[in-house]
Amino acid sequence: MKKVFGVFGDPIEHSLSPAMHNAAFSALGMDCVYHAFRVKPEKLENAILGAETMGFGGLNLTVPLKEAALKLDCVKPDPLAAGIGAVNTIVFRDGEILGYNTDGLGARQALLETAVEIEGSKVLIAGAGGAARAIAFQLATDGADIIIANRTEERAVELAGDISAAKLPGKVRGTGLLELRTLIRDADILINTTTLGMHPRTDASIAEAEDLHPDLAVFDIVYNPLETKLLRDAKAAGAKTVSGVLMLVYQGAEAFRLWTGAKPPVELMKKTVLEALKV
Ligand code: ATR
Repeated sequence: MKKVFGVFGDPIEHSLSPAMHNAAFSALGMDCVYHAFRVKPEKLENAILGAETMGFGGLNLTVPLKEAALKLDCVKPDPLAAGIGAVNTIVFRDGEILGYNTDGLGARQALLETAVEIEGSKVLIAGAGGAARAIAFQLATDGADIIIANRTEERAVELAGDISAAKLPGKVRGTGLLELRTLIRDADILINTTTLGMHPRTDASIAEAEDLHPDLAVFDIVYNPLETKLLRDAKAAGAKTVSGVLMLVYQGAEAFRLWTGAKPPVELMKKTVLEALKV
């Protein structure tokens, strides 16, 4: 009988995860199917317990459920997910419901694939929302020297405080956007986690084009459009660029590995997502 996997969220109809995981299952000849389910936060516990009861193989959680999952008694988060404060992957194992967060791992892998060194690098993260939390926790674990710059400065300072309290190898501080231009000129890696540049406001960018430089790697987690103004400007300045699509693919690949123990067919997953985005 087919094993069922799924992603819960609301809204959920535009999720690329079903196409990506179904392609992976079918390439590996696994008798599995992955489906998107619209679940409201107040019904999340019922939905997770129901999935467990029905023998689901595993779950992804997306907006607005990632933080809610951590508050449920039935979910046991691993230390990274607990630190981040959000769960994006649920594993059913030996009667337990385990919560993981693979978003940061996805970002890490996206950087590594583009031959960007993390340990000891000066990383400037623009934004302090959920995505920034996951990325900052992971890169601090990997020993990066991080500055979080956010429009609402207190959010950046709070996130930096949370990471410092976790006593990870990397250093981290939070600030507002006032010193952003100076910070970009001094950074090795710039990561945009804000919504700036996302469709339909595709002319927006967190950075001034003239501040981008060839010693910089620029990673934009926005993948709609595929090439944001920030990435276009970065390319023109001779900087390395890292597409947000890679983070999406690698967070999925890490989830796939956690559920199945199998090596995910990453290239196929990437191709599937790129095709779905072009439609
Ligand atoms: P997510 O959880 O997906 O990361 P979020 O929590 O809504 O999303 O965070 C969005 C980020 O984009 C925030 O850091 C937000 O800044 P504030 O904390 O000040 O709201 C940032 N952001 C959104 N619009 C922005 C804009 N026009 N200029 C600068 N930052 C912006």
